[in-house]
Amino acid sequence: MAKIGILGGGFIGRFYAESLSGRRGKDTVEVVFSRREESAARFAKDYAVAHYFTDMEEAVRHPDAEIIVIALPNYQHEEAVNLCVKHKKAVLCTKPLGRTAEEALRMMTACEKAGIFAGYLEDLCYTPKFLKSLSSVKSGAIGRILWAKSRETHPGPHSDWFWDLELAGGGAMLDMGCHCVEISRSFIGKDIKPVEVMCWADTQVKPIDAEDHAIGLVKYENGAIGQFEVSWTFRGGMDLRDEIMGTEGTIWLNSWLRTGFEMFTSGAGDGGYVVEKAESATGWQFPVGDEAHELGYTNMFIDMFNAFERGTQPTETFYDGYVVNAIIDAAYKSAKTKQWEPVELPIWRGQTGLSKPSVYKEYDADHWFIKEEILPNGDKKVILRKKETGEIVELETMKND
Ligand SMILES: NC(=O)c1ccc[n+]([C@@H]2O[C@H](COP(=O)([O-])OP(=O)(O)OC[C@H]3O[C@@H](n4cnc5c(N)ncnc54)[C@H](O)[C@@H]3O)[C@@H](O)[C@H]2O)c1
Repeated sequence: MAKIGILGGGFIGRFYAESLSGRRGKDTVEVVFSRREESAARFAKDYAVAHYFTDMEEAVRHPDAEIIVIALPNYQHEEAVNLCVKHKKAVLCTKPLGRTAEEALRMMTACEKAGIFAGYLEDLCYTPKFLKSLSSVKSGAIGRILWAKSRETHPGPHSDWFWDLELAGGGAMLDMGCHCVEISRSFIGKDIKPVEVMCWADTQVKPIDAEDHAIGLVKYENGAIGQFEVSWTFRGGMDLRDEIMGTEGTIWLNSWLRTGFEMFTSGAGDGGYVVEKAESATGWQFPVGDEAHELGYTNMFIDMFNAFERGTQPTETFYDGYVVNAIIDAAYKSAKTKQWEPVELPIWRGQTGLSKPSVYKEYDADHWFIKEEILPNGDKKVILRKKETGEIVELETMKND
């Protein structure tokens, strides 16, 4: 059983509390910190939290806060992690871990030196669809992963600080690219080194200093390519989609809009909350049955608390958060230079020295295999490359031959 202290009583703090207290679980939220007395008190009432504070350190050091969950704006993550280090408290931090890889690396190193448990709350790597897909990928069902694309777009975040470049550390690319990068990286293999990034980012709609739209490519050492597409300018709700392409198969995931639950309403009733980032409460709706579970929060906390109790590492660690930040840093650089930019990883704990596997598959002693296809008339064609000359040739077999 874990006793939890949540720092931050805003949007994600509530989602976390909902997934922790919404079931008959054994883990309990005992402490909450929020900036304003009235929101701390309201949060404590809504989730039956025994102790609330408007001083962050008081919340962290409270004896009933055994694990601290950081649900604060990006610029406060490091300060909160340092308080956990000071008071030797296990810490779980929301995404992105840092505003930059430098910040994330400092947080990771501080926790490792202090010997405290640290987990990275990357919920989208715990959704039921993601976990099932990942187990198919790991079983080899779709072969060697060639391309993993992840997209998160919505009409923009819900609080002022997100739109402030200094406080947030970036725009849509840091805010949502961190999810996409970690999703692609998980499918490609977290021990495969990301080497360089090419990125386009622009401010197309909003009057802000940060980017509100970005697309990037992340090259991995084994030849695989990751792709992220993020936007704060998308209209129509929240679009969460992934595509994974392997040598033996394909996976398409749609995690939010059109998940099989479609509803029409004229607008009768109280017209309240439909689902995260829904733009309208009338007309056709795409609700989600159990938001906290579909977004991965439930599985995420199960993994975190199990690892904490067993003294093991969770699936998503501060090290992962730091690697993600390093990829995003390279993307920001590339958006400026318009060049492929290297991913700077002063600490790398995965494989090194990999190269792209050979594309040559033998058909017979004289030929490499390219493609086989059955044509509309039932004939079969095999396209080959001659080993000796490199010439491309075609073998045709008539139907019933
Ligand atoms: N899917 C996810 O994992 C997910 C989703 C949303 C947000 N987040 C992350 O959670 C963190 C918080 O985001 P949120 O959406 O809950 O934000 P929010 O603005 O809704 O809430 C932030 C909380 O911090 C407090 N706060 C806000 N500005 C502050 C300031 N200047 N000084 C002190 N306290 C301040 C607020 O009072 C509130 O309690 C961010 O790092 C964000 O990236 C993660």
